[in-house]
Amino acid sequence: MSGSRRDSRIFLSPPWCGGSERANVSAAFDSGYVAPCGPMADAFERRIAAHCGVPSAAALSSGTAALDLIFDMLGVGRGDTVVCSDLTFIASAAPAVHRGAAPAFVDSDPATGQISIPLLRKAVAELRPKCVVATDLYGECCDYDALEAVCAEAGAALVCDSAEAFGSKWKDRPAGTAGFAGVFSFNGNKIVTTGGGGALVSRDPAVVERARWLSQQAREPFPWYEHARTGYNYRMPNLSAAVGLGQLDAFPEILARKRAIFDFYRKAFPALEPFPCHPDSFPTHWLSVFLFPSQAERDDAAARCAAHGIETRPVWKPMHLQPVFKDAAAFGGETSADFFARGICLPSGAGLDAESLERIRGVLGGG
Ligand SMILES: Cc1ncc(COP(=O)(O)O)c(C=O)c1O
Repeated sequence: MSGSRRDSRIFLSPPWCGGSERANVSAAFDSGYVAPCGPMADAFERRIAAHCGVPSAAALSSGTAALDLIFDMLGVGRGDTVVCSDLTFIASAAPAVHRGAAPAFVDSDPATGQISIPLLRKAVAELRPKCVVATDLYGECCDYDALEAVCAEAGAALVCDSAEAFGSKWKDRPAGTAGFAGVFSFNGNKIVTTGGGGALVSRDPAVVERARWLSQQAREPFPWYEHARTGYNYRMPNLSAAVGLGQLDAFPEILARKRAIFDFYRKAFPALEPFPCHPDSFPTHWLSVFLFPSQAERDDAAARCAAHGIETRPVWKPMHLQPVFKDAAAFGGETSADFFARGICLPSGAGLDAESLERIRGVLGGG
């Protein structure tokens, strides 16, 4: 699906399939593994691990499930604090909140768009959190070197919420591979999709092995179902992994297309400021994100797009502004609030054709 041809609407980030996805699903049916495990899921894990340069990966039902398993393994619970990026999707914090932990939020750095390292330093010194969940926003990476140093000093585990950043890098380190563990989302709108799914990666194979075991109900090695503790049903189904394997075949093209779309907008809209990116971060431009000079101009542009059937979205609403987190500790928040006020995510589907891009240029009045 191109996201622009099927009807006149242009969607924000529809999936784009390279071709082998359908054949893989058919092969999975033929193999008989229409099940929550199977050879495609195993192969998908090997491909994700190879892509990230780590020994292993666990294929799971969602990015949220991956985060939940990490909080389980870290023993996050009542009385613990979990420090998260302020500018993120709620799933960075929600599984920790469900376990009774207190969330705290750290503002974005105006120069990099990602979590502010000086404010994080302040937060961990004050709160002594069990872990830090740093979100790699919009297909960019946080400063992994600084994050690891701050977390090591504070005795806090580092978790990379790389749900949006599969394929991105910090220097030569693939997204998701710093700290205790990292997570990816393969939701329908992500740069690689399994139609809904996620993965957990870690440089420590024991962490991945435990996550995989927990994701399959923590079964002990007996012929019957024996359990010394409770687990979860978080394993990625074989059919989903079949889609994911096809997406990985197409990934070089998807990545090139995403980056070309961002380049088109950058040239078409010189008055807009690209969402900041650290020069040491290799961005995938999962979503093309730009900042308008003012909120009024952003709102006007978004309304014009909507009137012409072009889907856009504001930058994430920061967690410190979410009603559910009104009592949570927050360190700064002005920068993320400013990004929320002025930022727009433009259509970024890898299938966007030249005609659609020109339509967007026309509606937004680019030069
Ligand atoms: C930053 C972030 N964290 C976590 C998630 C959760 O991933 P999933 O939707 O696969 O559960 C998402 C996206 O959906 C996300 O953008």
